[in-house]
Amino acid sequence: MNVSSPNTEKLRDLQGPAALAALLRGVIETRAALARPIPVFLKIAPDLGEDDLAQLAETALASGIDGIIATNTTLARDGLRSRHAQETGGLSGMPLFERSTRTLARLSQLSGGKLPLIGVGGISTAEEAFAKIRAGASAVQLYTAMVYDGLSLAARIAQGLDRLLAGAGHASVAMAIGTDRDRWL
Ligand SMILES: Cc1cc2nc3c(=O)[nH]c(=O)nc-3n(C[C@H](O)[C@H](O)[C@H](O)COP(=O)(O)O)c2cc1C
Repeated sequence: MNVSSPNTEKLRDLQGPAALAALLRGVIETRAALARPIPVFLKIAPDLGEDDLAQLAETALASGIDGIIATNTTLARDGLRSRHAQETGGLSGMPLFERSTRTLARLSQLSGGKLPLIGVGGISTAEEAFAKIRAGASAVQLYTAMVYDGLSLAARIAQGLDRLLAGAGHASVAMAIGTDRDRWL
């Protein structure tokens, strides 16, 4: 459930507590009526303030969804020197990495590890995928880097992750989740 794209007017209003609770209730009720239930993941923005994020975590935990995807693109333009810096719309890729990873780590802390989190935003290397996992992600997603590096990037990141996990003494991704979360808080 994408309630976080900055490119659709008013969509992000659905992240507010009352609207989100009602929406999640409807989706979970609908899922209960399906012959084959499907997992429900909520995708959030990296631009939520501390209070909004805390409320969202509470609503999500109470709702019965299966996890949260953190994050979508950002409206922020911090540190950009590009002549395109002032263009409107969601910014993805490298400039989003730190902001989305901070949101992920905070969400991991707020949810106390009770909800699987999918880390996304600015991943283009195995090191960045590993950083998302160590910030609290159970899985990662990438989008923009595929534009530059092609589909084989997924395999390269998976192989690199294997090496990084072994080097850190982790037998599996599960062992590495959240091990460096505090660095991002
Ligand atoms: C052109 C474009 C279209 C996107 N469309 C969607 C979408 O339809 N639904 C969605 O949840 N996220 C959408 N996203 C967000 C991405 O899935 C991803 O969360 C975001 O780009 C950050 O990851 P990245 O830095 O690896 O690209 C889109 C991003 C881009 C750049």
